[in-house]
Amino acid sequence: MQPSEMFVGSIDQGTTSTRFLIFNRDGEPVASHQVEFNQIYPHPGWHEHDPLELVSSVETCITGAVRSFESQGFTRTSIACVGITNQRETTVVWDHETGEPLHNAVVWTDTRSQAIVSELKTRPGASNLQSLCGLPLSTYSSATKLLWMLGHVPKVKDAFERGTLAFGTVDAWLVYRLNGGAAANVFVSDSTNASRTMFVNLETLRYDDTLLDFFGIKGKIHLPRIVPSSDPSAYGVIVNGVLAQVPIMGCLGDQSSALVGQKGFSPGMAKNTYGTGCFLLYNVGEKPVFSTHGLLATVAYDFGGKPVYALEGSIAVAGSGVKFLQNNLSFFQDSKEVNDLALTVEDNGGCVFVTAFSGLFAPYWIDDAKGTIFGITQYTQKGHIARATLEATCFQTKAILDAMEKDSGKALSELAVDGGMSNSDLAMQTQADLISIPVYRPKMRETTALGAAIAAGLAVGMWRNFAELRDINRAGGAVFEPQITRQESATKFEQWEKAVCMSRGWIS
Ligand code: G3P
Repeated sequence: MQPSEMFVGSIDQGTTSTRFLIFNRDGEPVASHQVEFNQIYPHPGWHEHDPLELVSSVETCITGAVRSFESQGFTRTSIACVGITNQRETTVVWDHETGEPLHNAVVWTDTRSQAIVSELKTRPGASNLQSLCGLPLSTYSSATKLLWMLGHVPKVKDAFERGTLAFGTVDAWLVYRLNGGAAANVFVSDSTNASRTMFVNLETLRYDDTLLDFFGIKGKIHLPRIVPSSDPSAYGVIVNGVLAQVPIMGCLGDQSSALVGQKGFSPGMAKNTYGTGCFLLYNVGEKPVFSTHGLLATVAYDFGGKPVYALEGSIAVAGSGVKFLQNNLSFFQDSKEVNDLALTVEDNGGCVFVTAFSGLFAPYWIDDAKGTIFGITQYTQKGHIARATLEATCFQTKAILDAMEKDSGKALSELAVDGGMSNSDLAMQTQADLISIPVYRPKMRETTALGAAIAAGLAVGMWRNFAELRDINRAGGAVFEPQITRQESATKFEQWEKAVCMSRGWIS
């Protein structure tokens, strides 16, 4: 097949929904299908997914998108390969012999391991971990979620003791199951996902004995082999369904994928994705930069040559704050309405909402912060709270950019954005105002799915190099210019920082 005749499929397995998109060589999505799946909240602060439902959601989306693709006159045999992008850190455990999950997946937002984190912080060696793996000890990474399951789920503990416990992030689980599970035993994880576990040395991209020892799992658990994000043979083939025998050739954690989808290939380029959470990745080149200001060091992408690294600012709540207004407070029926509701008022009316539903991530890392709304009076309307919800992510982004400037020694001149909340003009204008630089929003915002398509497409020769990607999604974007002064922005930010301080230490 000529590259110009090829299409590439992209599985985007996110925190609240799964999609499958089919891209042509111009990087345009020609067909897609999306489903939501169950969010399981067994206790305050706990958040789980059913691993089998994640797999079936992927299969449903593939079937739906391929159907739509064929109804447009295309043939499924032109889909040369598939890429995967996924929610990161979410932890799946299964039995290595049977391939069956042993517990619900513990989602990245879940804070049940808070006590484990506090205890681990007191152990010798705890302060050296970040310089090895790039991540701070917190409830966020996979390691502490695994330790919680080992301590509290008898089936997991038994498998651990019998030596049959397999651990993986969502990419590893999907690749394993799409390949047929235990029978084929394709058990791999790409570097961007593996580096979110706390088990991997960020410079070698191999499991690190010091880290495995620290968490007490060295030699006791089946861990996926770490492979490049773009690879023609490591990920196997889909065995069932409408794309049976189509190879999987690329895989990227969703935030790395969005950076690739935004073509942030040069050091100094950054993107901010407003999904369930919000994640700012700043390309730092071929050497990791270990933050001293509350950011994470992570793998941007690993396309087989030298890996490229990023500084990351992770925000736990963005779209999930809007969903909270919809599902828990019944403010509207559809999250798209948040923009209109926020526009019913002129400003936040004095309200500041610290949306610390999973504690507060970067750059603050306050595990015991709780969601708190400040400044409520009889004057407060739903619109003010809607505005304050959108502003929370924008404020935290501002804090992250300040930290990034300190770590990198450079100021960003423009911020590229994508993800659901970036559809809100109000949110993006607010963002530009608060960070005092222009915000650039591309026309096609499925950049996360596009990134995985690019990773797979590069492996199959659909594109041969980055230069061939240059014109993809270049035209038709929008730019939001700051409309308030730096002084006005600083005054608002001061109020936010005060609210952050006051959100910590709530006992529940
Ligand atoms: O680290 C968590 C992240 O990968 C989740 O992304 O898009 O579901 O907010 P998203």
